[in-house]
Amino acid sequence: MTRRLRRHKDFDVTVEIKNDGFIRPPRDAQRNWLLKRALAEFVWDLEDLDALARGFVSGSSEPQLTDRTQAILDQQEIMEDWQVPIMRAMADVATEQQGDVLEIGFGRGVASEFIQDGSPRSHTVVECNDAIVADFAQWRRSHADSDIRLIHGRWQDTVGQFEQYDAIFFHTYPLNEEEFVDYVSTSVTFAEHFFDTAAAHLRDGGVFTYLTNEANSLSRQHQRLIFDRFRSFKLSKVAVNPPADSKDDLWADSMVVIGAYK
Ligand SMILES: C[S@@+](CC[C@H](N)C(=O)[O-])C[C@H]1O[C@@H](n2cnc3c(N)ncnc32)[C@H](O)[C@@H]1O
Repeated sequence: MTRRLRRHKDFDVTVEIKNDGFIRPPRDAQRNWLLKRALAEFVWDLEDLDALARGFVSGSSEPQLTDRTQAILDQQEIMEDWQVPIMRAMADVATEQQGDVLEIGFGRGVASEFIQDGSPRSHTVVECNDAIVADFAQWRRSHADSDIRLIHGRWQDTVGQFEQYDAIFFHTYPLNEEEFVDYVSTSVTFAEHFFDTAAAHLRDGGVFTYLTNEANSLSRQHQRLIFDRFRSFKLSKVAVNPPADSKDDLWADSMVVIGAYK
């Protein structure tokens, strides 16, 4: 058994490797270096989480238990105002090429308006909630001269209607308890369940944009999942100001917006 310990003023980290063949490069010195590096990274992450946790608001979110696919929601239930700067940052990424944009989740139409500001060649919105689709139809009238299309339904049920795009903007929420378990509890990031679909419907060089509640970086596992399907990515850290009673699942004073390029 191999045992490694890192002492810190606030905690100790110990790893005990039971399998002697685990992380076994040719030389012991290489193994030591890899293990030392892994423990150091974990310590840095813990230090960063400690600093981050001090800036958290308490929030009042509950796991999503009732189905809200067709729920009549008020504006803040659809998306709280403090997320607007994130929508702007994602829309800027989605309209870099001013090409064909696919947007998943119309919501309040905040991001749709920002996307229109960026003059895309076409803009296709996927939305499942009938009441929100009615809002979309009204918003659509204020952009009569733009090429704006609607795919009405859950993206999982309508993916057969998707074409190829220059940008995909993804911003939904879990619709029920099952999606919460599948997409939130067991994922690196909420958008992970959409990665394969995004990669399949982007042109070469096209960009997939989404947000993560990792406040100031991406975990290494998150980066690996991106590189499994995309050639490169860029991050922007967006300052946000969630109120103490935010019902969202994001509590820090910054969030990261990703642009992943196929
Ligand atoms: C957080 S809101 C989007 C807010 C929007 N970005 C804005 O700026 O106003 C999420 C939207 O995604 C929709 N949605 C959730 N799951 C979906 C799915 N599987 N397929 C299509 N739309 C979905 C919801 O009905 C809701 O309108």
